[in-house]
Amino acid sequence: MDAMKLLLERASAVKVQEPGPKKEELDAILRSALRAPDHGRLRPWHFIVITGEARARFGNLLAESLRIREPAATPEMLERERHKALRAPAIVVVVARVKPGDKIPDVEQIVSAGAAAEHIMLAAQALAYGAMWRTGAPAYDERVKEGLGLRTDDVIIGFIHIGTPAVVPPELARPQLDDCVTRWQG
Ligand SMILES: Cc1cc2nc3c(=O)[nH]c(=O)nc-3n(C[C@H](O)[C@H](O)[C@H](O)COP(=O)(O)O)c2cc1C
Repeated sequence: MDAMKLLLERASAVKVQEPGPKKEELDAILRSALRAPDHGRLRPWHFIVITGEARARFGNLLAESLRIREPAATPEMLERERHKALRAPAIVVVVARVKPGDKIPDVEQIVSAGAAAEHIMLAAQALAYGAMWRTGAPAYDERVKEGLGLRTDDVIIGFIHIGTPAVVPPELARPQLDDCVTRWQG
């Protein structure tokens, strides 16, 4: 796929289905993330791949964390939460692993992880898969982090859902260049 076409037409896949990327494809997608700009070569990111039957266990973790966050959650709410893990053939959890106190400011490390996440989004779409960057309360829940084997200082910046697009994404209104750009003349 032409790189500029991909960049100018990229859109999230709101619904994805099987098949997901094959192992080699997912590895290539992840390798693209390792090319993210990274001040100080800190590699301030980590990636967790959840595919196949592990998704059901991830769903249990999501449901259990919801049950503790919201003790009034109904069985239907818990079931819906559990099902979220099955919405995509592959989920990549993108983690910012910031080195606090480093001379590279935290914000630069976090945006590096964000760039890595976007490389994953773009690489998936370059291989004709659909991808969507999601977060929500689970991203900020310590129990989810613990269940995924993450460290306390780690920050989940996205659950990237990847699969075959199931619907044509809605054409969202995009901002106009002049709304976002000034051409500074001094
Ligand atoms: C850090 C981050 C977290 C996001 N979390 C969610 C989310 O939890 N749920 C959601 O519907 N969209 C979420 N989005 C937005 C979508 O990924 C998507 O960008 C948005 O729907 C606009 O669609 P587009 O990517 O085609 O422009 C998030 C985006 C970012 C950058």
